[in-house]
Amino acid sequence: MNKKKIHIILVAGARPNFMKVAPVLLELNKYPDVLAEVVHTGQHYDYEMSDIFLKDLGIKKPDYFFEAGTGTHAEQTARIMLAFEKICIKSKPNLVIVVGDVNSTLACALTAKKLNIKIAHIESGLRSFDMSMPEEINRMVVDRISDFLFVSEKSGIVNLKREGADCKNIFFVGNTMIDSLLFGLNRLKEVDSRRFRTSQLKQSLGDYGVVTLHRPSNVDEKGTLAGIVAVLSHIARKTPLIIPLHPRTRKNLRRFRIKIPNHIYSLAPLGYLEFLFLYKDARFVLTDSGGLQEETTFLKIPCLTLRQNTERPVTVTQGTNTIVGNNIRSVVAKVDSIL
Ligand code: UD1
Repeated sequence: MNKKKIHIILVAGARPNFMKVAPVLLELNKYPDVLAEVVHTGQHYDYEMSDIFLKDLGIKKPDYFFEAGTGTHAEQTARIMLAFEKICIKSKPNLVIVVGDVNSTLACALTAKKLNIKIAHIESGLRSFDMSMPEEINRMVVDRISDFLFVSEKSGIVNLKREGADCKNIFFVGNTMIDSLLFGLNRLKEVDSRRFRTSQLKQSLGDYGVVTLHRPSNVDEKGTLAGIVAVLSHIARKTPLIIPLHPRTRKNLRRFRIKIPNHIYSLAPLGYLEFLFLYKDARFVLTDSGGLQEETTFLKIPCLTLRQNTERPVTVTQGTNTIVGNNIRSVVAKVDSIL
């Protein structure tokens, strides 16, 4: 029998979740009355997409792990819901904390809500206003059913109010991913960076840009992906580019028989600390990631976002981010102006 009074389950499933969960878990662990447990849905499962993040962020092995990776959206979401429901029924948590906008976030929020368990959503209120993004659907549904809406930037408050959220449930709390970033920067001072595979590469290149690419809108269609690779190839002739390849992108490059040219440094996915070690000194970052727009803003690194929109407008209005779409000319012109 558990003597703790408050039982909280934190949900993580995909790579961008771990850095949002870690600081909250570490903080909750300081409260003797709280039992904080972590569910890892297994949406991401490769060592370098998952385990290494837990290690780098200093958090314990998850209390529960499902093997919910791969499959269609419905298959993945359903598998997570079935597994999470069993845990919720058995352990009856007082609160479930979900983060971000991935399928694991949606699946666990829906499951908990239907069991009348309170939900807190971290990174609430972000909107790209692009319903073709699976993440936008996830964000809207999760916010609609969450009891505590933890907002990371002020646009989130405006969006939530417009959608009719009750003001008393909205809390402007800042960005837990940036807490992890600070944690990571401190850890980097302690570790011997020569152990990183990219250490020599970084030293030998001097100036370089870092690229990340994984959005279905950029990598799931052959013509679009080939066009982006052509832009990267062009830019890399002036400034070396390093691209750690996301599994989705790697699979699609293979499927479409598109080759990353030899003058671009393509790597396997990197762990949290090694990736930070790499991008913190980059001349610029080219990305379609959400989180990286915020991390580069915090570090004042120019970021070019290869999308038509962002759910994180503060990175553009107050940060270093520019939305460049995937138009070759505008991307190249922007890189030139940075250089
Ligand atoms: C998911 C999130 C996206 C987030 C991204 C970060 C959704 C809808 N999408 O997209 O919001 O930005 O994570 O990475 O939740 N795969 C592996 N190994 C892994 C993980 C995935 O091989 O460790 C493969 C999967 O089998 C699948 C593909 O990569 O074929 C995509 O994985 P999936 O979780 O479906 O979506 P992501 O594109 O990673």
